[in-house]
Amino acid sequence: MTTTLLRGRTLSFLRWPETIDDHAAYAYEDDGGLLIRDGKIVAAGAYADVAKQAGDDTKTIDHRPHLLLPGFIDAHVHFPQMQVIASYGAELLDWLNTYTFPEESKFQNAQHGRRIARLFLDEMVRHGTTTVAAYCSVHRESAEAFFAEAHDRNMLTIAGKVMMDRNAPDAVLDTPQSGYDDTRALIEKWHGKGRQHVAITPRFAITSSPEQLEMSGALAREFPDLHMQTHLSENHAEIAFTQQLFPWSKDYTDVYERYGLLGKKSLFGHCIHLSEREADALSDSGSVAVFCPTSNLFLGSGLFDYQRYRRREKPLRIAAATDVGGGTSYSMLRTMDEGYKVIALNGEKLNPFQSFWQLTRGNAEALSLADKVGTLEEGTDADIIVLDAGATPAMGLRMENIETLAEELFLLQTLGDDRAIREVYVAGRAAKGDMAA
Ligand code: GUN
Ligand code: ZN
Repeated sequence: MTTTLLRGRTLSFLRWPETIDDHAAYAYEDDGGLLIRDGKIVAAGAYADVAKQAGDDTKTIDHRPHLLLPGFIDAHVHFPQMQVIASYGAELLDWLNTYTFPEESKFQNAQHGRRIARLFLDEMVRHGTTTVAAYCSVHRESAEAFFAEAHDRNMLTIAGKVMMDRNAPDAVLDTPQSGYDDTRALIEKWHGKGRQHVAITPRFAITSSPEQLEMSGALAREFPDLHMQTHLSENHAEIAFTQQLFPWSKDYTDVYERYGLLGKKSLFGHCIHLSEREADALSDSGSVAVFCPTSNLFLGSGLFDYQRYRRREKPLRIAAATDVGGGTSYSMLRTMDEGYKVIALNGEKLNPFQSFWQLTRGNAEALSLADKVGTLEEGTDADIIVLDAGATPAMGLRMENIETLAEELFLLQTLGDDRAIREVYVAGRAAKGDMAA
């Protein structure tokens, strides 16, 4: 049986780094080794130790002096919005009506869906993202296309067909019954097939009738281990419209609460303008708030108060995400760079170890996947990226006077993009190099 041995500077987080000096929060090997067999990491540690476990047929790939990290995880992204990125001049609701819903209507066409799914996953790999939680369009075909493409590449994904039955053009609407039936059919066909996970995906309260939210809750009860993903408290006009549509609700979060949609597998995109009551409700239920900085800046939605949410008496579980196409970059490095600035505008700091924890183990924990991805621990899937902090002339120049790992990570975040991702291993298979070949 062939095994692969990767050699390089390995970095994997053990827990949240409290401060920039909290070196016990991560495992770092200056000369590290990762032994890979059947798509999994079977040994990790100092190269000299790991190499002893290699066999005669082991292929060694030397990535020194580059860093080896777990692949990045994008916890909220819309694959049908590749051709929406860079749409000028609108806030959320106008942006959806003017650009996004018309674009998503094209995904009735299965061939279009397959083409964009392929290009989307190419782009993810190019940027070092090996796991995504993705929204498809309302059309079941779009989710079929996405899962087929992800399965072919053996990429771990969470995805769902969006359910939406009102307040949008007919071409992107389903009904409560068809949304339920299509989601069930997708679960039967794809959930647990290879590395695919189906998510219950009501788009948001504005585009789902009470009947549809009821049926989303029914699905969550029938399939309690499935993820549920939706949007919450992104924009003031959205919040006001939701209040009008659900006049009985205490607040926006209460709408989802009443339909049984809060819980440990529930991922709420944005969560910018939450009241203390709403934050308590998310915290009590173990729900996850997904921070989408490039999108929140681009659409002028607001500043997610990351450190306050973490530090409150009832802390929130937080994930980070691109939210393409409201988001403006496929890169999780660019995303955390903008995240750093959002947090700075809130008068706080996110240190580089905290950022890279978030991109890897933090997002894996938020998606309840840390036993599979997000670390370099033995027994986990071999989704690994190779990072080069001197990838461009400007980065190389800045690297000349960098001395610590923290400084190097911060440079990668501040100036890095897909050029800093030298290689990407998806379940042990080199995927970025393949693309270039
Ligand atoms: N709210 C409902 N749908 C969407 C979407 O596609 N993008 C963003 N950013 N917010 C949403
Ligand atoms: Zn979104």
